[in-house]
Amino acid sequence: MTIVVAVDGPAGSGKSSVSRAAARALGFDYLDTGAAYRAFAWRCLEEGIDTHGPRDVIESLPSFEYAIGTDPDGYFVRVGSEDVTADIREPRISSTVSSVARIPEVRAHLTALFRSIIAGTVKPGIVVEGRDITTVVAPDAEVRILLTASEEVRMRRRSAELSGESAEATARELSSRDAKDAKVVDFMNAAEGVVTVDSTDLDFDSTVHAVVTLVRERT
Ligand code: C5P
Repeated sequence: MTIVVAVDGPAGSGKSSVSRAAARALGFDYLDTGAAYRAFAWRCLEEGIDTHGPRDVIESLPSFEYAIGTDPDGYFVRVGSEDVTADIREPRISSTVSSVARIPEVRAHLTALFRSIIAGTVKPGIVVEGRDITTVVAPDAEVRILLTASEEVRMRRRSAELSGESAEATARELSSRDAKDAKVVDFMNAAEGVVTVDSTDLDFDSTVHAVVTLVRERT
């Protein structure tokens, strides 16, 4: 049986890096669903699709082909044959992604893709990370975790390498994206049966350790 570990949390909670490190420690696969939403937003911008008008966005869904996973060079995200691993982290994507992610048809399409990736997992397990994994994508997951940290700590971690205006801009971007996303799915409060891991006072390794321990205890 494949063990599914579902991890949700706000922007800047460290859930991507923590989930990836926990997956590596456990020998599990890893799926970053935010990267798929970002890849879809990238593709919309690339094709000049108006991301505020849902019709064209929805029409472009069936031809959206993306691949996400690991190769000898590390973690990658591709749209068609194009490697977009770095591009999807650009500010223009961060500021567009919420507008496409709130469209129900987009969520349904990507949710179906995520479920098929989970169903096809060959490793002993998979860590799936995002905003609605514990509640919508994999509500029956063996382990469900909400990874949080105080707003102040999240801002500080995200803007750690930046300074001055860029740090402030990053903090503003995170708050505004979380506010938009929270109107669509509740990732600030743990649903019933979901364990909260609060990393406010934990460093990176201790947070990974907390997640790995939860998985080992519960499976
Ligand atoms: O996790 P990350 O910050 O890269 O996610 C980018 C965006 O993708 C989020 O701001 C949100 O709009 C969307 N998202 C989502 N549901 C998920 C994962 C991400 O709506 N499960």
